[in-house]
Amino acid sequence: MSPAFDPKKDLVELKGKVIIVTGANRQSGLGYSTVKHLVREGAKVYSAARNEQQSLESIEKLKEDLRLGQDGPGSDGQVHFLKLDLGDPRNVKKVAEDFMAKESRLDVLDIASLISPFVFTQTLLPLLTKTAQEEDSDVRIINVSSITHYIVPSIKKLETVEDLNQEFHGRPVAKFFRYAHTKLLIIIWARALHKHLNSLSSITPGASRITVMSLNPGNIDTFSNRWPLPWLWRPLVRMLMTAPNVDVGVYPMVFAAAGKTIHEDREKYTGAYMSEKRDVVDPSSNARSDKLAEELWTLLQKIMKDMAL
Ligand SMILES: NC(=O)c1ccc[n+]([C@@H]2O[C@H](COP(=O)([O-])OP(=O)(O)OC[C@H]3O[C@@H](n4cnc5c(N)ncnc54)[C@H](OP(=O)(O)O)[C@@H]3O)[C@@H](O)[C@H]2O)c1
Repeated sequence: MSPAFDPKKDLVELKGKVIIVTGANRQSGLGYSTVKHLVREGAKVYSAARNEQQSLESIEKLKEDLRLGQDGPGSDGQVHFLKLDLGDPRNVKKVAEDFMAKESRLDVLDIASLISPFVFTQTLLPLLTKTAQEEDSDVRIINVSSITHYIVPSIKKLETVEDLNQEFHGRPVAKFFRYAHTKLLIIIWARALHKHLNSLSSITPGASRITVMSLNPGNIDTFSNRWPLPWLWRPLVRMLMTAPNVDVGVYPMVFAAAGKTIHEDREKYTGAYMSEKRDVVDPSSNARSDKLAEELWTLLQKIMKDMAL
């Protein structure tokens, strides 16, 4: 098991670094707490989300908590809103292009889901690669997956859009299987991206220095506050969780985004899947398949091309 982790001591230098975290609009969610840890240590973080009003309120709360702009612990950090709807690949491409026009670097991209995140990441690759060319760079792409990916039955191919959109009709909890399937695809995409970046090393300096990881954050209660009578359910829900609260639950994500240990042993982590205990572990056999990784990579590029993106 990995040694204890303290985000106040065990992160790389974050002052001057630029980070994008998606899905940080909800104050009860993993994205919000991840942003909080990174900003507190001095990073400039873009909170990318579709819900503008909720995001701005969350950013205000975060600024108050960290006393940003005052004499608080995170006085060097910054947090900005980046409007991003991951349901719309065209919007995603435009947001990424606008981002590259205004920012000269991108050190960490923390993202989940599939098609639009793929478009977002691909569009941002020139900026990530440019940042990775700097001598002391430590550029990371973090794909947030889940332990549920292990339940997905053996996959034969990933050659068509239908192969991506498995419905799991007839199975009980089909919706849960669809979620798990997407989380599996995220791991396969991370492995394929890692391989692709390595293959670019001779023509695009910096590409192979980008650390790409997927991870399972664990079971963290980000939802019971949305249930009726949350005070009634919460004690029971919390017994099933792997972390006592969200601020601790995001440690795997914060570690992946900025942990010193990864900087010191990059080879171990790049292309890998990490457990909620911050250990590099084997994902499922589906996720380890080089054939599926190649097919997914080819298919995602075809989808982008067909959409003229
Ligand atoms: N919590 C856990 O135990 C756990 C375990 C394993 C994996 N994960 C993964 O960790 C990530 C965060 O989890 P969470 O518990 O914090 O979930 P959450 O509270 O449900 O947050 C999900 C976030 O994704 C955003 N989102 C969804 N669709 C979007 C879109 N089309 N465009 C932009 N943003 C969109 C949501 O924004 P809106 O508010 O606008 O919908 C929300 O901010 C998820 O990928 C989840 O699958 C969580």
